[in-house]
Amino acid sequence: MHLTREEEKLLESENETVRRCMEILVAEGEANEAERLIEVKSAHISGVSYDNIGDAGLEWLESLEAELRVPATLNPAGMDLERWREMGIEEEFYCKQMRILRVFERLGVRMTLTCTPYYLLKPNFGDHLAWSESSAIVYANSLIGARTNRESGVSAIAAAIIGKIPYYGMHIKENRAPTIAVRIRGDLAAAGYEAGKMLRDEVPYFIFERSVAEEELKLLGAALAATGNTVMFHAEGVTPEWKDFNVPEERIEIEGKFEKGCEPDLVTVGCPHASPRELEIILNILGGRKVRREFWVFTAREVVMKNQNLVKKLEELGVKVFSDTCMVVSPATSKFDCVMVNSGKALHYLPKNRRVNVRFGDLRSCVEMAVS
Ligand code: F3S
Repeated sequence: MHLTREEEKLLESENETVRRCMEILVAEGEANEAERLIEVKSAHISGVSYDNIGDAGLEWLESLEAELRVPATLNPAGMDLERWREMGIEEEFYCKQMRILRVFERLGVRMTLTCTPYYLLKPNFGDHLAWSESSAIVYANSLIGARTNRESGVSAIAAAIIGKIPYYGMHIKENRAPTIAVRIRGDLAAAGYEAGKMLRDEVPYFIFERSVAEEELKLLGAALAATGNTVMFHAEGVTPEWKDFNVPEERIEIEGKFEKGCEPDLVTVGCPHASPRELEIILNILGGRKVRREFWVFTAREVVMKNQNLVKKLEELGVKVFSDTCMVVSPATSKFDCVMVNSGKALHYLPKNRRVNVRFGDLRSCVEMAVS
């Protein structure tokens, strides 16, 4: 990989963190045959929950000493920073999690603690990014037309400190061409869950039989990236680059449907984190009815702050609107037997990460279950 003189100097920097970060980026570039590094507009860092990274990750983070060259945002942590006791989080976990967060704060990372950074700081079409949350990566590439590969938490930190990332994969226009056309019927989250398993790392070109909401595409992308390696899709007539390439000849059909499942003792929505519109839809479906089961909704703290009335109304009906965390990365959901979700990504990870049974339905059936 070609390095400029300035980049070569960073490889010999007296600052050990800078040196290590450059080594990480060079190793990634060489492994992927990148010809050079390119500047990025932002980094989004995953691997924040103490539950995911443990003591080894915490120690590595605490060894970092550098300043960021580009703005960076942070994925959810293992608990709501204000309501962690209510979630049933242990004091020891809280302390370790706070040590992790203090490192990011010291480095200058924006403490967003959300997997939907695009609701807070939306990238522009064509921006190069170094993002490391699979659902946000698909969203940025597909719905915004920004360009990012699937970075790891470590390479996203390195990119935030160096301000660059290797130029390969989704950063290059021709690699964004669709490779298979897929007609989708039924629920999009359920279709995404199936499609990810079938398509692995294809770039699908989706054709829908009805108009679809942006939030449905968010759920579709998150599920695709969870069960497969998809980093981008096109949606005919919807996404910004759908007309830029020829439609692939190979065509398949996928129908997204649900099966009956276990009897939930927790219903949870907000994977990826809920948008203000999703909060509103939940309130409308509730129609003044109080919930009768535990019903947890996850969203970004900034979304809560900007929609306080809406959140207050939901809380008055018994919904718990948590921030900074989610049902998958927080150990709080492990204490339940059966969790109902409207997210293909949560469906995929909850049994593995939290060892719970999962029931899958759309947003309306989740809300109806919560009031039943
Ligand atoms: Fe976000 Fe957690 Fe789902 S990080 S995409 S809510 S698994």
